[in-house]
Parts: sequence; C-alpha cells; structure tokens
Amino acid sequence: MRLIRTENYAEMSLEAGKIIVEKIRTNPSLTLGLATGSTPKGLYDYLIQDHEQNGTTYKQVKSVNLDEYIGLQTQNPNSYHYFMRQNLFNHLDISENHTHIPNGSARDLEQECLRYEQLIRELGGVDLQILGIGQNGHIGFNEPGTSFSSRTHIVTLAENTREANSRFFNSLEEVPTHAITMGIASILGSKEILLLVSGEKKAEALLKFMNGEISEDFPASALKHHENVTVIADRDALKYI
Ligand code: GLP
Repeated sequence: MRLIRTENYAEMSLEAGKIIVEKIRTNPSLTLGLATGSTPKGLYDYLIQDHEQNGTTYKQVKSVNLDEYIGLQTQNPNSYHYFMRQNLFNHLDISENHTHIPNGSARDLEQECLRYEQLIRELGGVDLQILGIGQNGHIGFNEPGTSFSSRTHIVTLAENTREANSRFFNSLEEVPTHAITMGIASILGSKEILLLVSGEKKAEALLKFMNGEISEDFPASALKHHENVTVIADRDALKYI
C-alpha cells in the first residue's frame, strides 16, 4: 500500500486528479470506478478543469459507480445519478451510455444486482477505482459486518451513515433506509484503487485502517488484501498517524 500525504483537501484532490488524467492519457478507454460524497468533489472539479483547459477526452472512457440509494428517482437531487451528472458527467465529453450507476428504482432489485455484476464483467472489470471512506469504515455502502466475499447487493444503511448523510437532505427521515452497492469482492476486483481521505472527522477511521486489524467489522480493512492501493490523505485526516 502506498500513502501520499498532502497538506489539505485541495492538494489531495490535485494529486488524485493528476494520477487519473495520466491514466486516461495512457489508456483512453479506461474503465473508471467512481464514488460520490463530499470527498471526490474536488477531484471531479480538477478533472473538469483539466478537460476544459488541456482537452483530455473521455469519449472512450467508461465509468461504473459504486452505489445508489434505493427509492430515489434519478432526477432526485439527492440521488447519486443526479450527483454524478451535476458534478462530473455534464461537464465532460463522456457519452451517457458509457456511464453506469446501479438503478435504485429497479422493479426487481435482486435482478438489478446481478445485472450490475454482469455489466462490470462485460466491461472487463474496473481499471481504477476511486473510493472514499465512511466514519465507520464503510466503502461504497458496505457497512460493518459485510462479508468480504460480497458482490453487488442490497444493504440496510447503518443509522450513523444515515445521520452523516442527512446533511444533504431536509431531515433525517428523508434519508433512504436502503441502498444498492457494489460488494467488497466486487471492489477488490478492480485492478487499482485510490482511497481518498480528508478531514479530522475521518482521522479515527484512517488510523483504524492503517494500524487496525483486517476484519469484516471494518469494511475498508479488506483493501489490505489488494495489491495496488494508494491512499491519498490530507494532514487533518492523518492527525493520528
Ligand atoms: C457515503 C458513500 C460512500 C462515501 C462515504 C463518505 O455514504 N456511499 O461511497 O465514500 O459515504 O462520504 P463523504 O465523502 O461525504 O465523507
């Protein structure tokens, strides 16, 4: 595992951005694994700026998102479909049918999980997966206790995850109780992983990740089984390290 220490959120986003742009330039038909949340927003801003200024093209790039809430329509501003359009896709030349996000409004959700796994296989797997981390160590929406052999599945969100994410909603009640997420094994199937960690709120989780044991009680610890993980963290998140 490689650790890149950065001063702040802006530098973390810049470092991640440089790695991704370099990969796309070497392999223009890269399959990118994408995440939502506050953490990757600065990175997405960097990719947009680079696309506008340096012309990096996403015409052949494919993307696969980690997760989506169940029960929010894709037009709902809190859905991850909406987030990705607003914060990235609408500003790049990526073609819409190359972007993939689990469908949290599918009529048959079990079938949707299977479809998503099949899709990832057909794409030849994810080349580079971007990840954030939850305060409880979740990756995607894989909450503590999730099996390391899990594939795309339906989850009941932990109460502390709903509380953490309620900042985007009008009230806690509005936060969905369930989500669909790539599993731990699906994530570990990526060829390379970039884990971004920023801010004091994540300092304990990062400490646990770096120094704690590998356990299903702390989903991110599964990443230690992967041979190509780069952690990019800022000074606040590295407070205890
Ligand atoms: C969310 C997402 C995760 C994300 C994490 C951290 O619930 N499902 O993919 O990495 O929680 O979010 P943030 O970056 O806003 O702290």
